[in-house]
Amino acid sequence: MHVKKLIMLYFSPTGTTKKIIETISGSVQCETLETIDFTKKKIRENADVDLNADLVIIGTPAYYGRIPNEVTDYLSKIHVNNVYAVLVVVYGNREYEDSLKELYDTACAAGFIPIACAAFIGEHSYSSEKLPMAHGRPDDMDLERAKLFGATIQKEFRSLITLDNINKISIPGSSDYKNKTMPKYPVAPETLKECCAMCNRCLEVCPVEAISVDGQSNLRTI
Ligand SMILES: Cc1cc2nc3c(=O)[nH]c(=O)nc-3n(C[C@H](O)[C@H](O)[C@H](O)COP(=O)(O)O)c2cc1C
Repeated sequence: MHVKKLIMLYFSPTGTTKKIIETISGSVQCETLETIDFTKKKIRENADVDLNADLVIIGTPAYYGRIPNEVTDYLSKIHVNNVYAVLVVVYGNREYEDSLKELYDTACAAGFIPIACAAFIGEHSYSSEKLPMAHGRPDDMDLERAKLFGATIQKEFRSLITLDNINKISIPGSSDYKNKTMPKYPVAPETLKECCAMCNRCLEVCPVEAISVDGQSNLRTI
């Protein structure tokens, strides 16, 4: 079956999820391809978006083995009527734990019907020269796998949307994730007062708009 309209729906502060989702989508032939990148706060404020498509590929990073609050908040405002979805988490090579399970539950609650799921490795957001974590990922081999995943979705679309497949999808992780202890601090960058010229450039470049001039995080406590 032909995928006429495909939508990429992702949250990707440091760009690796975006890269994986674009690579997967690139292997799915379609007539119309739309992108909803809800990384920015102002995009997340408007959940009144048209998600009627043959397929929506939803991507998110794993945070603390879960999915970010921004993703659950945004997806819980969305209501679709049985739209087929492919669910993808990208993690920094520690573990994705219950994140795919949480994405699955959240997408189902929004009215999506997951037909395939995957977890990919991306460079860890906290990776540095001193402490490299999954440095350079996704690499060529990861991207080949993402292409293959997309090509399989394209080729097997008809059998993936059968009830038999949908009922068979089993996701690693525990449904008990809501009861797990999460860090109880707001995630905020620390300012070195002696270096800060108050140019406010950081406010513009922060991908999730997490910085405010008073140095307090705009992000909710996780
Ligand atoms: C707050 C935070 C928590 C994270 N928690 C995990 C984790 O539990 N396991 C893991 O493997 N990677 C973890 N990561 C790494 C991200 O999942 C990884 O870098 C991902 O590729 C980032 O996606 P993005 O580039 O689309 O933002 C975390 C990153 C951040 C910023």
